[in-house]
Amino acid sequence: MEKEIRFFELNTGAKMPSVGLGTWDSDPGVVAVTTAINVGYRHIDCAQLYGNEKEIGSANLKKLFNDGVVKREDLWITSKLWCTDHAPEDVPKAFDRTVQDLQLDYLDLYLIHWPVGMKKGSVGFKSENLTRLDIPSTWKAMEALYDSGKARAIGVSNFSTKKLEALLELARVPPAVNQVECHPLWQQPKLHAFCKSKGIHLSGYSPLGSPAMRIMKKEVLKNPTLLWVAEKLGKTPAQVALRWGLQMGHSVLPKSSNETRIKENFDVFGWSIPDDLFEMFSDIEQASSLSLFLYVCIAPHIHQIIKGTPFVHETFGAYRTIEELWDGEQ
Ligand code: A2P
Repeated sequence: MEKEIRFFELNTGAKMPSVGLGTWDSDPGVVAVTTAINVGYRHIDCAQLYGNEKEIGSANLKKLFNDGVVKREDLWITSKLWCTDHAPEDVPKAFDRTVQDLQLDYLDLYLIHWPVGMKKGSVGFKSENLTRLDIPSTWKAMEALYDSGKARAIGVSNFSTKKLEALLELARVPPAVNQVECHPLWQQPKLHAFCKSKGIHLSGYSPLGSPAMRIMKKEVLKNPTLLWVAEKLGKTPAQVALRWGLQMGHSVLPKSSNETRIKENFDVFGWSIPDDLFEMFSDIEQASSLSLFLYVCIAPHIHQIIKGTPFVHETFGAYRTIEELWDGEQ
């Protein structure tokens, strides 16, 4: 019998469904939450930044609950605090706005979206809106949401090992999750191992390598190892990329607005990648394993897609370089 890996247990004891629907880049009108829930997804990954929480609430969740398609307690809903709302007094306000938009009473998981501060009320990614930040005070406000029961788990996103270490030192409630980019070309072994050792669940966004973004020189779904394993197993490259993630021990958040692909991405249970094929993934070249010389040569095309470039500036904000933002782990 294959191990199903339907859930991952968090340090709160909660069981988070292992495959969640990503909703970033889902324009109003094409949010496919209803389709996904009808297919069997029970985990929806949202964020205030994505600008579609109102639609997810009013056109999707509310109707699904009213029609008795699914009960609130059977769903896992995550959302994220945007960088403009890091001040402790703004955290509960941003949280309330999100739950109101989603038409919910509580969230299963609330994350600090980036370790980045931006001016309150600012819109977009202008450098002059970047501010210094004070994660300890933001985290205290996150802990208060956890204490209130309105956020049943709290965590972070886009945090390096070093930033997680610093957070763990001061946290009364340790983060349950670190949501970061993770796929076969960006495996993040160091961060993975650190999270595991501290009981923090790693959740992988862009698990298919965000093929529509086309900023990667090498596309995940065209990787020769992935294609070979997919052919051997009679699965699609996307299914193999997702199943690889589950077998690595992290949840996956594929985004799709297309019913066929939503179904395809959920068909990752009841089979597995055998050990000998699974091991081949550890041989896929990772940017961090390259020599310094090679690294410098290919740096513009390294396999990480979401580098956070708008959060780096020579004068504004907390980070002068991408290396500072990721503490050299990018
Ligand atoms: P679409 O919404 O048209 O399905 P990621 O989750 O890594 O960011 O990837 C999301 C992107 O991948 C979207 O552009 C999505 O397009 C596309 N996508 C989703 N599922 C699949 C799939 N099974 N095969 C190929 N592309 C996919």
